[in-house]
Order: sequence, then C-alpha cells, then structure tokens
Amino acid sequence: MSETPNDVRAAGATFKPRVFSGIKPSGGLTLGNYLGAIKRFVSMQDEAFETIYCMVDLHAITVWQDPAALRHNTRELAAGFIASGISPEKSILINQSQVPEHAQLGWILSCIARMGWMQRMTQFKDKAGKNAQNASLGLFGYPALMAADILVYHATHVPVGEDQKQHLELTRDIAAKFNHDYGVDFFPMTEPVIEGAATRVMSLRDGSKKMSKSDPSDASRINMTDDADTIAKKIRKAKTDPDALPSEAKGLESRPEARNLVNIYAALADMSVDQVLAAHGGAQFGTFKPALADLAVDKLAPISGEMARLMDDPAEIDRILAHGATQAREITTPILKKTYEIVGMVGN
Ligand code: TRP
Repeated sequence: MSETPNDVRAAGATFKPRVFSGIKPSGGLTLGNYLGAIKRFVSMQDEAFETIYCMVDLHAITVWQDPAALRHNTRELAAGFIASGISPEKSILINQSQVPEHAQLGWILSCIARMGWMQRMTQFKDKAGKNAQNASLGLFGYPALMAADILVYHATHVPVGEDQKQHLELTRDIAAKFNHDYGVDFFPMTEPVIEGAATRVMSLRDGSKKMSKSDPSDASRINMTDDADTIAKKIRKAKTDPDALPSEAKGLESRPEARNLVNIYAALADMSVDQVLAAHGGAQFGTFKPALADLAVDKLAPISGEMARLMDDPAEIDRILAHGATQAREITTPILKKTYEIVGMVGN
C-alpha cells in the first residue's frame, strides 16, 4: 500500500552509517589508486561501518571502452580490491551493471537534476574539453548516475578524492530537491570523506603531476600488477634532487619529488611524515630509495601476486561479484520500490 509522506519521513529519519564508493574499471590500477582509495576502503570495512564498494562499469562507458578490455579491466579491478584486502565477507563488492537499480534510480535523478547544475561540473568541462558537442550525453549526465549509486543504498559516507567533491555536493542537492519536491525525508544528506593531500601519490618522474594510468611513461607509476623487480627498479630510478632528506616536514615544501617519496613511504608504513623523517632525516636518496623499495615490495608484491592468482580464475571473481550483486539488491530493491511509489509509478 502507498504511504503518506509523513510515514515516509518517519521511515527515512534513521539512516544507518553506510559507506559507498566506486572506481571506474577503465584499466590500469596504480599505487595512487591503492594508497589514495583502496587502502582506506579496506580500513573502513573494519570500522563500525557497513561498506559497499563498486566497479562502476556504467560510468566507464561514458567514454569509449573496447568490450573485451572492459571485461578484463572489471575483473582486474575486482581482483585488485580483493587482493588488497576488501573481503567479500565484510564488504559488499559489486559491479555496477549487475545491480540494475543504479541505472533505474539514475533515470529518476536525471529528472531531478537541473541542466544548470550539470553545466557547472568542472570534471565534465575538463574531460570534454573543447570538444563538448562531441562528448556523450552519458558523460554529461554521469553525476546524476553517481548520485544514484550512492542514494540507492541510502549511503551516508562516501570516501573519494578531492576531484569528486563537487559531484558529492551535487548528490546532496539532488537528494534535497527530491525530498523537497515530493515532501519527504527519504534520501539522506551524504557526507564526503575526502582523502588527505598526503595520500595523493604523484608521478615518479615529475612530482607536480598526479601518478596516472594514462601517463605515457610507465616509469612514472607503479602499477598494481607490477612484480617485485619492476617495483624496486621504478623506485630506484624515481626522479629526486641531490639533497639529503630533511628532519622535518617543512623541509620538503619546495621539493615535490622528495616529498612524494616520503609520502609514499609514510602511507605504506602507516607512519606520519614526521615519523618517517625522524627515522630517515639526513639520509641521502642512495640509502632512502632502497629502504623505500624494500618497503614497497614488501607491501605490494603480495598484492600483485594475489591479483595474478585471481586473474587465473575469472570464474571465482565472477562468483564473488554475483554474490555481491545478490546482497546489494536486498538493499536497493526496497529503496527503488519506495522511490517509484513516492514518484507515483503504478504497480509499486
Ligand atoms: N566518479 C567517480 C570517479 O570518477 C567514480 C564514482 C562513480 C563514484 N560513482 C561513485 C565514487 C559513487 C563514489 C561514489 O572517481
């Protein structure tokens, strides 16, 4: 039976803390994805939260994806999540298109979001560039689907990078307008959990550029599929300056490459920058780099090894994702049904 807005308001008043985040399976996981996002996802699943992590394949196709590559990259991202410690027992791990309620709510929210709001999205402007008329409609509308990814779970906390902050503000605007227009308190106001600057991993060749899967130089990044030798070699060859490490963080201010390597060390060792510098201040890169290489190999080689093992057994990955989709739909089906009912769709 349909409910009055007041019933809906009462039902929506208690939102359980629930974490949702997504990564696009568009290929090439790097140390930047691991330290900037996945490592945090792993620690959140051990805190008091319910956690849902998603490969956002529907978002990936807003720009052209070769179908075979998309399939491979989706499984590889799942393998990266699992190998890094996202446990299918503790978290719900899903591939977006396997939970159809994302796209269904995405449509409703596209009818809530305003053209003017979307036109302000800086990521669209950056990505589409001068060629905006030739960008897909999906790329333009993508933030409404992202809002649906979050709101279809009534998620309250979303760990993301700084670049997604504007999309999360839009998610709140969409939720507020929906609640206002229909006179309900149905969708929560989601809190962004923005990563600190310290976990921003920069290129190993240029400390002013973000480490990126699309950098033409493979030496600029550590891929999560790199083996121990490759990881160690890339760190030994990383660009640095000729000075010794300072003993305090302040001494790194105008030394982007040095700062990046210290940040990477700190993040991998779960130490603060000050603690790293207390231990290594005064050291030359000739000694610090081998120490960092050992640490990185220690932490990352088991992950890349486990990823390779999982990728040898894609049926196992698919089984985990099918299970995740079943769990996810237990949450999304009633929320979508209620949304349809609020909106006035017959049969719900
Ligand atoms: N837009 C995000 C990115 O480009 C990926 C994403 C899609 C996402 N849906 C999401 C992140 C929902 C957090 C929550 O990185």
